[in-house]
Amino acid sequence: MQFSFASRAQTLLSSPLRDIRELAKRDSFISLAEELPAEELFPLHSLAESATTVLSEDPLALQYGEAQGYGPLRSWLSQDLARRKELSVGPEQILLTTGTQQAIDLLVRVYVDPGDPVLVENPTSPGLLQVLRLQGAVIIPVEGDQEGMLPGKLKELIDKHKPKLLMAAPNFTNPTGVMWSLARRKQVLELCVNHHTLIVEDDSYGDLYFGDTHGQKRIPSMYSLEEKQGGHVLYVGSFSKIVAPALRTGWAAGNRQVIQMMTAVKQMADWQSSMLNQHILHNLLESKHFQLDEHIAMLNREYTIRLKLMVELLKRNAWKDAEYVVPPGGMFVWVKLPPGLDGDALLRGSLLKGAAFLPGSMCSDGNDSRECIRLNFTHPGRDELLLGMNLISEALLEFTARN
Ligand SMILES: Cc1ncc(COP(=O)(O)O)c(C=O)c1O
Repeated sequence: MQFSFASRAQTLLSSPLRDIRELAKRDSFISLAEELPAEELFPLHSLAESATTVLSEDPLALQYGEAQGYGPLRSWLSQDLARRKELSVGPEQILLTTGTQQAIDLLVRVYVDPGDPVLVENPTSPGLLQVLRLQGAVIIPVEGDQEGMLPGKLKELIDKHKPKLLMAAPNFTNPTGVMWSLARRKQVLELCVNHHTLIVEDDSYGDLYFGDTHGQKRIPSMYSLEEKQGGHVLYVGSFSKIVAPALRTGWAAGNRQVIQMMTAVKQMADWQSSMLNQHILHNLLESKHFQLDEHIAMLNREYTIRLKLMVELLKRNAWKDAEYVVPPGGMFVWVKLPPGLDGDALLRGSLLKGAAFLPGSMCSDGNDSRECIRLNFTHPGRDELLLGMNLISEALLEFTARN
């Protein structure tokens, strides 16, 4: 059969990340390339207890449910967002999705026509770029620094392209780990409000915050900063990084009209996200045996140690001409390689040694960021991290000697 795929599906054909995942399945292969939490820290026993309770007492967990998601979980989330993030969002303004990735995909499907310009951080997450490419969006990268997007550049691009949409992850941007300053959040919000540009604020990493150890304070979300709640910000997030990604439970929270459109398209995609997962998650979050705040604090203690270990390893000779900023949270260190080195070429050498990282080229739409790499410090255990960094350092030293 000669298959004749839609032309936009061509954007799906090559996926270096998929190739790295395949390789990482090999025994003894160490991947610092991915966006994974540490599985040894999953609340396995508490989840098992919740799953047993739900499956023995709650037949509705196995039934079709509301497209917008399990009501009690939406109510729980509405209260949690108010308590921990000072967000004012009612359960009717929340759509539960199959992870943040689906929330972004659904929004892009109902909001972006092929050819529409969409503003993104530069660099940004590979998953976001894939969604935008599939929809045929014109991706417009916006330059940023350690405080977030540059308002001057943003204004120029808004004036030139009149974009409907801006996508950003102000808490520990994937891949740079940057936490936007309060001033930048306010400036970007003001520009977008004035020009009717909808902001998708992706807070997937927001709870992985090591601020206490770095002396930085938590900064309000753009959603909560928008005083009149005019609906210019859609706040998306998930339980993937703080409970477990396999629950595939995320959300979009925002203006009712946007949520209704997203719910309509979700019905076409999968009717609703897994009711079983949502019931189990709700049971877990309400259970006396599990405290979300304590669990997040435990994750952040361990991830801080892994980050410190990675930073110590980056102080070694191989990395002396590399540049990086220690992130105040998230899952990655973004490293600018010594001058003249290319992340894709270094990856080829590193794969031969048995270790992987994400080359920067995958985080930008053009040829930008080729001189950078993204290192994940949350998934590899401490020993694996040490070994993985040793292997990548070896590849780097060989590479530097040859160039
Ligand atoms: C910025 C960002 N948003 C969203 C996701 C998707 O996460 P999930 O769909 O598991 O919530 C990822 C991947 O981990 C990500 O890096």
